[in-house]
Amino acid sequence: MKKTANYFLENKGKRRFSMLTAYDCMTAHTIEEAGVDMILVGDSLGNTVLGYENTLAVTVEDMIHHGAAVCRGAKESFVVVDMPFMSYQPSVYDAVVNAGRIVKETNCQAVKLEGGVEYADRIKAIVDAGIPVVAHLGLTPQSFNTLGGYKVQGKTVEVAQKLLNDAKVVAEAGAFAITLECIPAPLAKMVTESVNAITIGIGAGKYCDAQVLVWQDMTGYGDGFTPKFVKKYANTHDILLEAFKEYKKEVEEQTFPTADHTFAMDEEVLEKLY
Ligand code: KIV
Repeated sequence: MKKTANYFLENKGKRRFSMLTAYDCMTAHTIEEAGVDMILVGDSLGNTVLGYENTLAVTVEDMIHHGAAVCRGAKESFVVVDMPFMSYQPSVYDAVVNAGRIVKETNCQAVKLEGGVEYADRIKAIVDAGIPVVAHLGLTPQSFNTLGGYKVQGKTVEVAQKLLNDAKVVAEAGAFAITLECIPAPLAKMVTESVNAITIGIGAGKYCDAQVLVWQDMTGYGDGFTPKFVKKYANTHDILLEAFKEYKKEVEEQTFPTADHTFAMDEEVLEKLY
């Protein structure tokens, strides 16, 4: 049965939850088959699927296109879709209208947006409209220009205290979950113990209620930089590379297709052709 935001709230502290990103229906289907609790259609699709250097160019249309594919592939899963850059920042109105579009046009169960106290009014308005919200604190990639790059956040008293306050405010505003990206584990533990919302860690240590990773990172798909917080559970890049090379070789050598992969035809039919 499909899980709900309330299921996660009611089970906080009782069990740990797993989440993976997905951007297409087949991957989502496989993640669902594995029994992973939640799927995130992250705006990381800007990097992992669309080839951008960051997430800023991702549009609401991109999120809807990929979000709908994921929801079609994982019909029983709790799916969260990211609100992209500038889809909620300008105003409460923009936030509610775009969250509504994302839910109506993808069939997802929740939306996620980056930021703390400054976006609490957006979170409250979206929740009031009947849409569960996941907040996102710590390293918030949509703000990498003001954060000064992709760095661990919350190492100083000032920044750690702001993050703790932000977590309390966004939970108070109605967020049922808070993603904590790239922060020290003891700070993530403190946040987890301070809010009723579930915390979803990525580079935030083992004390969060849930864990999320980008599926291409954790399966070793792609041959680029791997962040410290990623564990590679497979090396799909090498497996695919070998398969593609072998295919190219067999096509060139005419050892594929063989009779096993070929449709035969009645000689009589063939003879009648001119
Ligand atoms: O966009 C994304 O994939 C995310 C995760 C890194 C949490 O926000």
